[in-house]
Amino acid sequence: MSRKHIVAGNWKMNKNLSETQALLTALKEKKNTGDAQVIVAPTSINLHAAVTALNGSDIQVAAQNMHQAESGAYTGEISASMIDSIGINTVILGHSERRAYFHEDDALLAQKVNTAIAQGFTVIFCFGEELEDRKNGKHFDVVESQLKNALFHLTASQWSHIVLAYEPVWAIGTGETASPDQAQEMHAFIRSTVGTSYDANTADQVSILYGGSVKPGNAKEIFSKPDVDGGLIGGASLKADDFFEIVNAF
Ligand code: G3P
Repeated sequence: MSRKHIVAGNWKMNKNLSETQALLTALKEKKNTGDAQVIVAPTSINLHAAVTALNGSDIQVAAQNMHQAESGAYTGEISASMIDSIGINTVILGHSERRAYFHEDDALLAQKVNTAIAQGFTVIFCFGEELEDRKNGKHFDVVESQLKNALFHLTASQWSHIVLAYEPVWAIGTGETASPDQAQEMHAFIRSTVGTSYDANTADQVSILYGGSVKPGNAKEIFSKPDVDGGLIGGASLKADDFFEIVNAF
């Protein structure tokens, strides 16, 4: 069975309720001419509205984050069961902005991954090096460490819940996209690392998305690489035309 192609839009902290509904209406009118699974991740306050608006559509909804606890005194947080209760079964975890601004480290992310898998979720797990790491030739070490510390405790069967999203931090929101060859080189390394720690089938089956300034003008070349199975899109996901040009790059 071939790996799934996935294009997911991470809306981050953008779009109020009416703007969310307007964008979702525009997205529903778009035609997916390829084979990519399409996912959108609005901000948590708009998730239920998104599920309602997309009912009957092939576009799936994901949460941008969740707490590792089942429930409790965690003001402002949302739990896996709350996300599940509104019909969502996919969550983004480990985004570099969560790591940087909310101090989410590998150990905490391992707990969040466990909670998400226990809820039966698919996890889009984000990781990637800083520019300094790459300049110092440490980018492979950093990526391997992030993967091993947060994911390599999972069993091979639990990897069916995992979608990997390699997002070099220096490419996020900067317009400095990794070149298709840079993306392919790191994706091949990631797949090989999974294969060494698990087995060839687990490595072959896991979808590895690229994120970091994917735009309509560069998506086709990036997605043409053998170990790139789609993208996690930030800025370009906030416009229906741009987002579906990227979706249809497959
Ligand atoms: O999660 C995707 C995001 O970090 C990429 O952002 O704006 O560079 O596409 P952007």
